[in-house]
Amino acid sequence: MAFPFLKKDMAKTEKSLPENLPQHIAFIMDGNGRWAKKRNMPRKFGHREGAKTFHDITRYCRSIGIKNASFYVFSTENWRRPQEEIDAIMNLLWEYLNDCDEYLEQEVRMIFIGDKSRLPERIRNRMIELEEDSKKYDKMNLILAINYGGRDEIAYAARQLAQKAVNGEIDPLSITEEMIGEHLYTKEIPDVDLMIRPSGELRLSNFLIWQCAYAEYYFTDVLWPDFARSELDKALWDYAGRGRRFGGV
Ligand code: FPP
Repeated sequence: MAFPFLKKDMAKTEKSLPENLPQHIAFIMDGNGRWAKKRNMPRKFGHREGAKTFHDITRYCRSIGIKNASFYVFSTENWRRPQEEIDAIMNLLWEYLNDCDEYLEQEVRMIFIGDKSRLPERIRNRMIELEEDSKKYDKMNLILAINYGGRDEIAYAARQLAQKAVNGEIDPLSITEEMIGEHLYTKEIPDVDLMIRPSGELRLSNFLIWQCAYAEYYFTDVLWPDFARSELDKALWDYAGRGRRFGGV
């Protein structure tokens, strides 16, 4: 089957962008279900359309020089959805994971964050393979959160540190924020500068909660399947106009 994510030809922009681009943008791809509902279609059509947007936005991020782009694909809470919808998302993911040559050609490093152990074996193995094949690349880190939860990630870091303390490798009283950061899934990735959530919801939903401590937030009513490149441009201009003080004055 031809790669379905390439069909959508969204408007190309990048005619003028601010100079201070964020180093790390995180996207919560929300609104797929509502997009489908508005068209009297099953929710899975919304996810398919959302996957096309995802593909277009990743290519755009690479082309404008964003160094780290994270996407919330599937949360630890999403297992509560109907099995049919879970299967549809996993099938999309499987299709996508088998059509990643373009990223490798573009020297994009692919990193999958989240607990891989609960995922179907073929998906898990393909993720590990892609991480391995792309780890030499440094043009952009593409971070996909799959079976990911921010609290789950912090608990994972705590378990590792506790084990090291039990082994006598570290003193529990000397545990620092940096040490916690080094035990997160994102240990090689800088903190999030800009968090984007479409679809009108004003929440973080357990996404990169540690890494977003000083992030700027950008919310829009546009549903994710309609989130075109021009929407990202708007978010980038908005971000560029903000004064970031990181707790200083
Ligand atoms: C949230 O929208 C979206 C998800 C839980 C799934 C995101 C998945 C994709 C974009 C497709 C698969 C991605 C890849 C990488 C192939 P929602 O369903 O909660 O929307 P709603 O709030 O309108 O119901």
